[in-house]
Amino acid sequence: MKIIDPAEHPVPFVHRTLLSGVAPRPIALVSTVDREGRHNLSPFSFFNAFGANPPVVVVSPSYRGKDGTPKHTFENIRDTGEFTISAISYAMVEQINLASAEYERGMDEFEKAGFTKLPPVAVTPPGVAESPFVMECRLMEHVDTGGKPGSGNLMIGEVLRFHIRESAFEGERIDPNRLDLVARMGYNWYCRASGDALFELPKLEHNGIGVDALPAHIRSSPILTGRDLARLGGIAFLPDAQAIRARWEKLLAEVFPGQTGPDQFDVEIRTGNPRRALTALMKDWKEYALAPEQIAPLLQRCAQAALDDGDPEFAWECALMSDPGIIAGF
Ligand SMILES: Cc1cc2nc3c(=O)[nH]c(=O)nc-3n(C[C@H](O)[C@H](O)[C@H](O)COP(=O)(O)O)c2cc1C
Repeated sequence: MKIIDPAEHPVPFVHRTLLSGVAPRPIALVSTVDREGRHNLSPFSFFNAFGANPPVVVVSPSYRGKDGTPKHTFENIRDTGEFTISAISYAMVEQINLASAEYERGMDEFEKAGFTKLPPVAVTPPGVAESPFVMECRLMEHVDTGGKPGSGNLMIGEVLRFHIRESAFEGERIDPNRLDLVARMGYNWYCRASGDALFELPKLEHNGIGVDALPAHIRSSPILTGRDLARLGGIAFLPDAQAIRARWEKLLAEVFPGQTGPDQFDVEIRTGNPRRALTALMKDWKEYALAPEQIAPLLQRCAQAALDDGDPEFAWECALMSDPGIIAGF
C-alpha cells in the first residue's frame, strides 16, 4: 500500500488523490442569485445528502485553488441564504461542462450553457428545466473548513421542495434507469448511473451471523472471496452440518463412479450448474478415491458457483462439507 501524508504534498495533488478515491460523486448543478438579482449556475461534485428529517444536502464551493478567492456560488448563497440544486442526467453533461467555466461575476450560465429556467416555488433561484430532479434549498449553516486555496465551504441546506419529472417514475418508485444520472470520478472521468452500471443488493431481513462466525475452514478458504464470505455470513443461523452430512452419505452411495469426462466438473461450474458439478465431483471422488485436500477446494468452488447462482442453501451445504476432516469421514 502506498501511504500518503497529505501534509507533505501540494494541494492539487491532494485534490486529485482525494477525488479519485471518493467516487463516484453525485453532481449538483447549483443555481443562485446575487444581491443584484443576477442568476448564476455552476456544477459541484462536493455534494451529498445528509438525513431526511429534515431533508438536508451539503454542497461545497471551494476557495479557488489558484488565488484563494471565493466562488460566485458561495458568495451568492452566503448573501441570500438560498440555492436550487438540479441533478445531472447524461443528456446534460456537456452543458454542465460549459457552465463550469470561470465566467465573470454576473454572467448567467443558464444562457451560456443553453439551459432553460424552471420556476421555483419556495426560493428565488430557478431550477434547470432539463433536469429530472430539482431541489429548492434554504441555507441552514455555513462551515468554512480552512479559508485557504482549495479549502471547502460546507453550505448545509434544507430541502424545501422537490421537483421530479413524471417520466422518472416507474409506478410509485423513482427508477434510476429513467433518471440516467451522471457522477464524477477522479481526473476527467465521469460515470453514467444506468444500464449495466446498476445492480440491486436487497437489504438483509435479519442480522447475519457475520463473517467472524463462519467455521474456520470456510473463513480461511483460498477459493472463497470476501464477497462470498459476506454472502455466507448473511445467513441468520448456521445450518445443521450433521443433517447435511447424512444426506450427502446417501447421495454418494447412489452415485455411479466414472461416466464423466475429465472436464465435466469445470464445464458445470463455468456454465453455472453447481449441483451438476457436485454430481460430477462425487463420481470422480468415488472413481479415483480423491484425497480430502483435493475435494475440499472443489466443494468450495461449488459453493461459490451456488452463491453466484442465487442458491445460498446449496452453497452452505458445499461450504460446510468442504472441511477435510468431514470429507475424510465419508
Ligand atoms: C463536474 C464538475 C464538478 C465540480 N465540482 C466542484 C466542487 O465540488 N467544488 C468546487 O469548488 N468546484 C467544482 N467545480 C468547478 C466549478 O464548477 C467552477 O469553479 C465554477 O466556475 C464555479 O463557478 P462560480 O464561481 O460561478 O460559482 C466542478 C466542475 C465540474 C465540471
